[in-house]
Amino acid sequence: MDIEFEVKYGLDGVAVAISSISCVDGEKGKLVYRGFEIEDLIQNSNFEETAYLIWFGSLPNENELDFLISMLSKKRELPNQIIEMMKLFPKNSHPMEVLRSVVSMLGMYSKKENSTFENAINLTAKIPTIIAYWYRIRNDLPLIKPKESLKHSENFLYMMFGKIPEHFNLFDKALILHEEQGMNASTFASTVTASTLSDIYSIITTAIGTLKGPLHGGANEKVLKMFDEIGSIENVEFYINNLIEKKEKIMGFGHRIYKTYDPRAKILKNWIKEIFINNNIKYFEIALKVEEIVVNKFKDKKIYPNVDFYSGILYNYFGIPKEFFTPIFAMARIVGWTAHAMEYCKNNRIFRPKAIYNGPKNLKYKEVKGVE
Ligand code: CMC
Repeated sequence: MDIEFEVKYGLDGVAVAISSISCVDGEKGKLVYRGFEIEDLIQNSNFEETAYLIWFGSLPNENELDFLISMLSKKRELPNQIIEMMKLFPKNSHPMEVLRSVVSMLGMYSKKENSTFENAINLTAKIPTIIAYWYRIRNDLPLIKPKESLKHSENFLYMMFGKIPEHFNLFDKALILHEEQGMNASTFASTVTASTLSDIYSIITTAIGTLKGPLHGGANEKVLKMFDEIGSIENVEFYINNLIEKKEKIMGFGHRIYKTYDPRAKILKNWIKEIFINNNIKYFEIALKVEEIVVNKFKDKKIYPNVDFYSGILYNYFGIPKEFFTPIFAMARIVGWTAHAMEYCKNNRIFRPKAIYNGPKNLKYKEVKGVE
């Protein structure tokens, strides 16, 4: 065996790029996009403006922002053939399967002369439409066409439900929280695909497939499934202790980088606490009890709630079914995926790590007799 190399499983502690897009400080629990703290952005910005910041490195002036908003709002509609194909998909297809497949199909419909950035805008504009159309098709509801006059997040909720719910601005701010997060698994996967000089549709298809897993973006759906299984506050202790005993991971907890409270989880929890406490928002009491038990139990391992622990409670408040939580994550994170892919390619080198071979050597081929 080649012992010259040490294997870093999960690339723990390995840097693969130099980036000016975001800074994730896992000790202090800080997340900064292009120099701006996330708390500042959710207070003062919106999805489109933060996307501009992440893509271009500075906040836009009025004209620049208007231009981006208009590009995003004009490109929302899907090609008719794709809509017709979606109607033929099995109704029980998971929205992440549909999103992954339709993004891949859109590559065939894109103009070959488009720049990477134009394609990034095209996909960012269309992902909410794919999600909303699938929600409507799956539920045998008529499609609601995108409305150019509405903002990105407003338009998404409108296409889902035909109306814009109260507190929709919190949904927009939740998208800001999910737009970017350093070299996480899906961003790394998309960067690997970008490093082969593949196209943006392939890059984002890769990223969606990676985000789907329950250790990554798929955790938000699993968290709500866990709350449903727990059912009532009286069952929390038994349920969680049972998971711990079986050494199973508790969904929505832990993070490779954050060794303190994930700032995004803190923000989401505060919104729910401050704004909805009088409405007795579903699952919140159960969530608080789960958090108390898990944080106490794993104090030494520094395991705290991550972004996926509280986001589903908010989305559920808006009436969004849990299978659609991870697609919403993708709808925001496409900004980070494309920003990293474009940044990496400015100084591109194809990713080609190695695996240390420990299989047999020096075997000689022998013909198997009697097999035709
Ligand atoms: N529940 C119970 N134990 C945990 C958990 C958890 N959620 N997370 C980590 N641990 C333990 C783990 O068992 C290990 O213990 P030991 O050292 O005794 O073997 C230790 O903490 C370190 O964990 P790890 O799995 O080696 O850490 P990692 O950095 O490789 O994995 C993680 C990070 C997020 C995959 C992991 O914490 C996890 O599986 N969490 C649950 C799934 C989840 O919520 N994912 C969302 C991540 S944040 C948003 C996103 O990226 O989508």
